[in-house]
Amino acid sequence: MTAVVVGASSGLGRAIATELARRGQPLLLVASDARDLDAIAADLRIRHGASVRTLALDLASEPDPGARLVAALDGFPPLASLLLPVGMSRSDDDLGLEPRRIGELLAINLHAPLAIVHALLPRLREARGAVVLFSSIAAVRGRGRNVVYAAAKRGIESLAESLRQRHAPDELRVHLYRLGFLATNLTHGLALPTPAASPSDVAHAVVDRLPRGSGRWYLPRRFALVAAVVRVLPWPLFRTMRS
Ligand SMILES: NC(=O)c1ccc[n+]([C@@H]2O[C@H](COP(=O)([O-])OP(=O)(O)OC[C@H]3O[C@@H](n4cnc5c(N)ncnc54)[C@H](OP(=O)(O)O)[C@@H]3O)[C@@H](O)[C@H]2O)c1
Repeated sequence: MTAVVVGASSGLGRAIATELARRGQPLLLVASDARDLDAIAADLRIRHGASVRTLALDLASEPDPGARLVAALDGFPPLASLLLPVGMSRSDDDLGLEPRRIGELLAINLHAPLAIVHALLPRLREARGAVVLFSSIAAVRGRGRNVVYAAAKRGIESLAESLRQRHAPDELRVHLYRLGFLATNLTHGLALPTPAASPSDVAHAVVDRLPRGSGRWYLPRRFALVAAVVRVLPWPLFRTMRS
């Protein structure tokens, strides 16, 4: 059975691909840079004897990423899981971002996951497979920073809910992760309020849970408490928060 990892070239996606390869899963890895993907695939073949193929797609501008994935999966064993640890954020994603940049952020963080899930849904249902989506602690409450990114992540949460509403758990399993800070490109150079978690620890937990039924989880788990506190902060106090 095949697993597709979208956003497999760095951070959490790369760690998930490594964990799946270690467990012998045939893989299709997707990201924008063909050279990065080729190097990762070669490494996984050598270290784990894994069957790995790659697909380079710029999801900021690709109109139909789902069709490209369907074509790339031709000849693969049936699809068991689709993991979407793809994402991009910008330091200037406040309430002054220019429209083209807003479009790119939405394309990568929301349009691509939606389009890919739609396109691969029939195959996933056939195999009683799993869709694994990644939201963020940034989406708990709207702020004046990460405006577009957080809106896209709320969209991802809505997608997870729609999939669960439409499909019985024995037709499709839907996993939604609300992630806190991870030590990846996305947080590189940022002054974080709490230490960043290791992507390989998080990848291990995500892959361990793949056979399970639908669910929503915070990772690292302590961020469930952080989210609960942020949610109940009185509005006048929440408005004063700047980080
Ligand atoms: N890091 C955190 O603290 C944190 C916190 C909350 C949620 N998350 C979420 O966790 C997931 C994993 O994030 P991460 O920290 O591992 O991020 P990362 O290290 O920046 O990796 C993001 C992945 O997305 C791919 N990607 C970005 N733009 C793309 C494009 N235009 N076309 C194709 N692929 C593209 C990147 O590949 P290329 O750049 O090579 O294309 C890369 O493989 C994301 O959904 C993120 O939003 C992360």
